Amino acid sequence: MSSIFETAPSAAAIPIIFATKSSWPAIRDALPAPARQFAQANGYAAKPGASLVLPSAEGEIAQVLFGLEDDTARYRDPFRAGSLPGLLPAGTYRFANAPHDARLAALGFALGSYRFTRYRKGEAPEVKLVPPDGVDAAELTRMAEAATLARDLVNTPSNDMGPVELEAAARELAERHGAQFKSIVGDELTQQNFPLIHAVGMASPRAPRLIELNWGDAAHPKVTLVGKGVCFDTGGLDLKPSSGMLLMKKDMGGAANVLALAQMVMDAGLKLRLRVLIAAVENAVAGNAFRPLDVFPSRKGITVEIGNTDAEGRLILADALALADEEKPDLLIDMGTLTGAARVALGPDLPPFYTQDDKLAADIARCAMAEHDPLWRMPLWAPYDAWLDSKVATINNAPSGGFAGSITCALFLQRFVEHAKSWLHLDIFAWTPSAKPGRPEGGECQGARALYKLLSERYG
Ligand code: BES
Ligand code: MN
Ligand code: ZN
Repeated sequence: MSSIFETAPSAAAIPIIFATKSSWPAIRDALPAPARQFAQANGYAAKPGASLVLPSAEGEIAQVLFGLEDDTARYRDPFRAGSLPGLLPAGTYRFANAPHDARLAALGFALGSYRFTRYRKGEAPEVKLVPPDGVDAAELTRMAEAATLARDLVNTPSNDMGPVELEAAARELAERHGAQFKSIVGDELTQQNFPLIHAVGMASPRAPRLIELNWGDAAHPKVTLVGKGVCFDTGGLDLKPSSGMLLMKKDMGGAANVLALAQMVMDAGLKLRLRVLIAAVENAVAGNAFRPLDVFPSRKGITVEIGNTDAEGRLILADALALADEEKPDLLIDMGTLTGAARVALGPDLPPFYTQDDKLAADIARCAMAEHDPLWRMPLWAPYDAWLDSKVATINNAPSGGFAGSITCALFLQRFVEHAKSWLHLDIFAWTPSAKPGRPEGGECQGARALYKLLSERYG
């Protein structure tokens, strides 16, 4: 993959001048007369996100003006510069002055140059950026490439991204970094005691599987990542309406983000023993599909009554978490697109996270802010745990009433984690519904960058 960052010395790079409403008059007055005249004729006022390409006397591109929020604004988007790749002509650019956070602006620029080109080539902006002084370009490249991986996996439609293809992507990642790889497929899931993954995935002709990657020194702290890889979620027999089903190719977004995080960890060579578990299934409709009020055993031993076949993500994660928990990892993290309720509570751009570990929660919140990969803590509210009660089994996967849906999902998963020193659960959206700077519309990398920052602080 070629980096968006230009690391060779480039004297010819076109300067991008950042201006705010208050800094603009001084910047304007310092421009050469024809450029000043051109800006004035265009009515340029350095509004946030507004760009203007200034010509030289010879008709070349001399420089670019780009507006940012004033220092006193209630909110300044750290990724504002991420809209530049979509606005600029092909070329190599550099920051002429510092935006409010040069590192995040450069990261936003890199993330904003992503396009999904699998089925229609030639749409990606042909721009390069000379990394700002003092910024670790290798680290930003690592983050941008991980985001590309997650976005490509999510954006790829389900006909080309089933359990087989998701497994192939994980295997490719493992091979690239010398990790061990294995996969437990189909009826083998029953033999090896993963009844819930099998139950959810068995109605699809594309066999369910538990994908596993292992990497790093066994003596290092054990960090295990678990991802929800529902390659398409019809809802099962509790079929989703078409409006709710439309985007469900993205229901493997947890798996995509776990792979993105694993890629960053391995590429950076962090001092941890990494284990990745991905439960990959298609929640399909067929005569052999699991049904409402079916009861299944689980790997953990407790029985689960199916209140709703559309609450499938927590079922497959339950068996994968139970396996992960058996080796008592130091840190166990799961990610998945688990509930619509998380979106109702916090919207698409602010995924909730859950943990009982207050130190971990504080560290995550700080890393999320620092990387502009926002996450918000929600509670594992113990009084609601009783809502999981079933009349015939140990627990039900979909409490009636539907209150606090993201919390009750987290409480469900918590039942399968007992021995891990620390457990963290992310209920992500993995999708940007409408483009924002640095965040093109479509599949999104959510949480992975914040978690990478946390892991590099702890195990770098
Ligand atoms: N994959 C969905 C959750 C989802 C839907 C995430 C839309 C993002 C956008 C999940 O499998 C699901 O269907 N959850 C149900 C749970 C309910 C049946 C208890 C939901 O949220 O409605
Ligand atoms: Mn579902
Ligand atoms: Zn789902």
